[in-house]
Amino acid sequence: MQHFTLPAAARILAMAKDNYRTQTFTLAARLSAQPGQFVMAWLPRFDEKPFSLVAADPVTLMITAVGPFTQLAHTLQPGDSLWIRGAFGKGFCVAPEQRHLALVGGGYGVAPLLWLARQQLAAGRQVTVVVGARTAADLLYLDHFEQLSARVPAGRLTLRLATEDGSLGHAGRVTDLLAPLVSAGHVDGLYACGPHGMLNAVETLARQAKVACQSSWEAYMRCGLGICGSCEHAGKILCLDGPVLSATS
Ligand SMILES: Cc1cc2nc3c(=O)[nH]c(=O)nc-3n(C[C@H](O)[C@H](O)[C@H](O)COP(=O)(O)OP(=O)(O)OC[C@H]3O[C@@H](n4cnc5c(N)ncnc54)[C@H](O)[C@@H]3O)c2cc1C
Ligand code: FES
Repeated sequence: MQHFTLPAAARILAMAKDNYRTQTFTLAARLSAQPGQFVMAWLPRFDEKPFSLVAADPVTLMITAVGPFTQLAHTLQPGDSLWIRGAFGKGFCVAPEQRHLALVGGGYGVAPLLWLARQQLAAGRQVTVVVGARTAADLLYLDHFEQLSARVPAGRLTLRLATEDGSLGHAGRVTDLLAPLVSAGHVDGLYACGPHGMLNAVETLARQAKVACQSSWEAYMRCGLGICGSCEHAGKILCLDGPVLSATS
């Protein structure tokens, strides 16, 4: 297991289509890392962008095509290479006394949560996963969470869905599903990744109910090393202090 300080070529072993604009890349590389950490992925002579680790052994990335880098990545084929460096940043850190966790993912924010769910179920915790997106077509990794649920004792992993247009699951936002769980005292830790608006809403719920909460924040990253300052968010350098930050009370 290792850390890549400089970009290292990692051959693409497999590419799986997750939805109309998202693919999961499995790479011939292994890293020492924790859920919530990220790598910088480089396409030579083009650009370099950060991606959460879906898994570290083998390195697995979920890439949603939203712009030039991600669209070019989608044209690669198994056998081609992506260059990666990392793993960087601080991941999720679950307190030993927490027993029932809610993992909340919006859009491609589910990327680090499957690994976190697997890890926490193995540690004997109960996990509720709340996945949200704009439409049913945008929801990600439902099949992976369902497969994981089938492999653990009944009731240990609960999956709840929300779509803003009501095309699958609850019609509305993830926080509509989370609020009753939190206010009833059913969960003692919230772990979230997704758009900033969703993270702010989850943190507000957590503060009101006095439940511990960690969120993975996105920012524009260049160096990934704490040098360039481009990833500053709320007074923190996200590539070093985050991307996972504890909500302040
Ligand atoms: C710590 C960290 C982890 C990340 N993990 C992942 C991950 O696991 N998977 C992943 O796909 N991305 C992830 N990202 C985001 C990824 O780095 C960006 O999406 C990347 O900048 C896209 O590069 P691009 O050149 O394709 O598009 P850009 O030119 O950077 O963006 C194109 C346009 O799309 C907009 N945009 C960016 N994201 C979205 C979106 N989700 N929906 C709609 N519009 C959007 C931008 O604002 C911009 O206007 C992560 C970012 C950070 C900081
Ligand atoms: S990306 Fe350069 S300081 Fe964080």
